[in-house]
Amino acid sequence: PKQQTLAVIKPDALEEHRESILKEIRDRGFSVSQLKETVLSRQMAEEFYKQHREKPFFSQLVEFMCRGPCLILILTKENAVEEWRAMMGPSDPDHAKATSPNSIRARFASDILHNSVHGSSNEQHAEENIRFIFGDISSDAELTSD
Ligand code: CMP
Repeated sequence: PKQQTLAVIKPDALEEHRESILKEIRDRGFSVSQLKETVLSRQMAEEFYKQHREKPFFSQLVEFMCRGPCLILILTKENAVEEWRAMMGPSDPDHAKATSPNSIRARFASDILHNSVHGSSNEQHAEENIRFIFGDISSDAELTSD
């Protein structure tokens, strides 16, 4: 069965690598069911990353995510949550380069904070993230282009 996940192209990657990342998403068989380009407010970013609130990097993370536009996508595919996470690679691009050199983070991320993309960590987070960003939408809608 098809599954949905929330993907974010972060401000560091959107400017320079937008087209490469979108092409790769489509080449790997994901459908882009919704997409939204937006500058997150501080409040949105804090809520989106609330599970990291206690982490030492939380304020840097929020600052970074709000510094320019993000492209936020709903990706649909079988096993989309896991597939998108595999395609992103590990959070730390140094680790990504060593273990998954073809991953997006290995190729486009500069460090563990500025790591180019985000993906929901499991199905429940995916549902929550999608509702948080897009509200209650019909999950069957598919865009044919961006
Ligand atoms: P993401 O997968 O979006 O989820 C949490 C984000 O926090 C992560 O990508 C990075 O952008 C950031 N992050 C995770 N670990 C660290 C760290 N050790 N130092 C700085 N930023 C981090």
